[in-house]
Amino acid sequence: MVTLSLDSTALVGPTALALARLPAADPQDSYTAAHSRRVRRFALAIGGELGLAPGELGPLGHAALFHDIGKLAVPAEILLKPARLDAGEWALMRRHSVDGAELAGSLGLCGRAVPAIRHHHERYDGEGYPDGLAGEAIPLAARIIHVADALDSMLTTRPYRAGRPARATLTELRRGAGTQFCPRCVAALERLVGGGSLVDLGLPPASLIAPVP
Ligand SMILES: [Fe+2]
Repeated sequence: MVTLSLDSTALVGPTALALARLPAADPQDSYTAAHSRRVRRFALAIGGELGLAPGELGPLGHAALFHDIGKLAVPAEILLKPARLDAGEWALMRRHSVDGAELAGSLGLCGRAVPAIRHHHERYDGEGYPDGLAGEAIPLAARIIHVADALDSMLTTRPYRAGRPARATLTELRRGAGTQFCPRCVAALERLVGGGSLVDLGLPPASLIAPVP
């Protein structure tokens, strides 16, 4: 079984141990568990670059690790479907941010992490979900996780599509800065890559060089 691991300070209340042992989603869904761990690392790096205080980085890391916990409620045949989702399946999948926030709150995840989970699919231009928040109205932790989530998703090969090269991924994030993504978060990511801070995550400084069209 694939489980997420985290330090005990992530949680409050007697459910901490149980939640720490909770599978990322379906036990067979090793992608979600590994993806969540990478998103946490990217998010903490971006948060640190943006100057978040230790008291803010903690909830950010916890929210990043559990950002997709709501997928526990998504049927496995949809979650693991080796093809693009149809409209009905996509509607079910989209529920995961709200369900995840409710679940994290009820299980005792640090309170400041809960809105970051709820809003991790909001877009900077207000076209995201579940609430259509825009710009700085979106919690900063949620904006950071949105960038980290998209970054890792694009880099990673899935059953229905190949992972994209690092250069193309960063170009895509830059293109979406101000529309899908928070510009400050994308700029922070680019500074990290340029400084060589994310080499171990597959993003050497050369990744910033735009691909030849
Ligand atoms: Fe998500």
